Amino acid sequence: MCGIVGYIGSRDSQPILLEGLKKLEYRGYDSAGVAVHTTQGLHIRKTKGRIRELEARLEHQPLQGFAGIGHTRWATHGKPSDENSHPHADTTMKISVVHNGIIENHQQLKEELEQLGHRFRSETDTEVISHLIAQYYENDLVKAVQQAVGRIRGAYAIVVLSEHEPDKLIAVRWASPLIIGVGEGENFIGSDIPAILEYTRDVYILSDGEMAVISRDSVELMTLEGNFIAKQLLHIDWDIIMAEKGGYEHFMLKEIHEQPRAYRDTMLSRIGEGSETTLSEIQLTPERIKSIGSIHMVACGTAYHAALVGKAVIERLTRIPVEVDVASEYRYRQPVIKENTLVIAVSQSGETADTLAAMREAKLNGAQVLAITNVVGSSVAREADHVLFTWAGPEIAVASTKAYTSQLIAIYLLALHLSQTLNTTDALARAELIQGLKKLPEQVESMLEDTRQVQRIAQELSGVSDLFFIGRGLDQMVALEASLKLKEISYIHSEAYAAGELKHGSLALIEDGTPVIALATQEHLLEKTISNVKEVKARGGHVIAVALSGNMPIAGTADDVLYVPRTHALLTPALSVVPLQLLAYYTALAKGNDVDKPRNLAKSVTVE
Ligand code: F6R
Repeated sequence: MCGIVGYIGSRDSQPILLEGLKKLEYRGYDSAGVAVHTTQGLHIRKTKGRIRELEARLEHQPLQGFAGIGHTRWATHGKPSDENSHPHADTTMKISVVHNGIIENHQQLKEELEQLGHRFRSETDTEVISHLIAQYYENDLVKAVQQAVGRIRGAYAIVVLSEHEPDKLIAVRWASPLIIGVGEGENFIGSDIPAILEYTRDVYILSDGEMAVISRDSVELMTLEGNFIAKQLLHIDWDIIMAEKGGYEHFMLKEIHEQPRAYRDTMLSRIGEGSETTLSEIQLTPERIKSIGSIHMVACGTAYHAALVGKAVIERLTRIPVEVDVASEYRYRQPVIKENTLVIAVSQSGETADTLAAMREAKLNGAQVLAITNVVGSSVAREADHVLFTWAGPEIAVASTKAYTSQLIAIYLLALHLSQTLNTTDALARAELIQGLKKLPEQVESMLEDTRQVQRIAQELSGVSDLFFIGRGLDQMVALEASLKLKEISYIHSEAYAAGELKHGSLALIEDGTPVIALATQEHLLEKTISNVKEVKARGGHVIAVALSGNMPIAGTADDVLYVPRTHALLTPALSVVPLQLLAYYTALAKGNDVDKPRNLAKSVTVE
């Protein structure tokens, strides 16, 4: 996820681009840049770091011109650096491009273009777009962009500014958001509404497969094939704060709703048509995979909960024994680390001090470290031997949601990849799991359509002081995450237990009206879970179940049931956690808490 802006009109473009970028900084903030068409031609200024660093550079070396594009980056291909920052340009520096998304076939295109004499300056996938456009350019920029886009596969929002035809900006969208702001004698482009809201409230929202050719006086909308289209101009009446959150009241809610996209992006280009997974970014050779004797997973908080699901899934698919450690404990317990131990570190931020320390301990003892992280260029990503990125995009709310579920997706892909190499599951079983994975984004979308039941339950829970989560098998791991989510933003005391453990002590805490959330998605364990629910009910507990749709027995036992769509038994955590994230959110909201910035907590914990 990155932020894109564009301006063409009669004002100086630099301040407008900078203001727009600042409004989009929540979409990514590891580097930033602008390209402006000046009287001396096309010029680019870009730098690693936040937008204020770009601003400082522009103060010393300003760019003046009436047309420009800008970008704030959240690195995907290529670490955060000056060279990898956008805009990118072709060899002759006449065609500049900013891009949000991922170009899946960039490597193949790069090789082809290099053979034709193009010289690349960065490690990014984006740079191929500028070279491709240059390759096709024959006095018609629109046509060249259409031809170039015809060659690329993946997700993209692209804006092009060229010295050849500086009177226009060209914007193209496929699976990454892009809007056109319509002004008087000037027009704007943004990844999102906040970028342009200061200047205009009239926008076109581009759909997939559409492009816009924008001059200072006109906006032409067309398909990628060049057929003109008519679109309704929308008038935006949000305020700027709401717009930054995409119209959602809080970043947390926005991020919960971004999960279908995060699932798709994390899977993108890693699963093919059949039952194969390709994790080309991790360099574990088949020999190395076959030599793995054990796996240790290290992580903190929510990432630790993802690792717990990881243990169950990896062991089931690969039969390799997996241990999971809270990272802050790992190095102090003298774990048995051997050269054939693979240590998997899971971290959204990639900067968590405890996780880094655990990784260093593992490396010191000769183990290979594979990181699953959301931040390219982070310390965890840099220090690991192999990195599998989650493409969740920046997570702003302190309570992690889309990062957790993207970690689950990355773990499923990794388990499939290992089992494919080890031949520990047959192709049919893998295909079933992959089919299930592909359906998840739509299933989450369907769950997010109507949240009224969750909101009603949240209202009821907002008055309680204690609450319990129970579940068996994978449900227990989700119970831990749901409990943490509720605690950290609603400040309600909650605990999560293996459902079968309750009667060994904690059942004593259940009294009349005590709320218990029972996860019951593991249908092979259903009878046992229902027995545990009955134990709670017999003590007066108020049970809210989370079950797969069509599960009738649970409806006869629990007081309320939150149904989630049916999926492969191993994939249920990726669905069942969603209503529980919403439950935490709406409970905190009902209590009037600061949802995005809960008390005492920080987004990234860089101290031990
Ligand atoms: C809870 C939460 C934390 C983090 C933990 C690890 O919602 O976000 O528990 O999961 O601090 O952070 P990362 O994943 O950045 O290493």
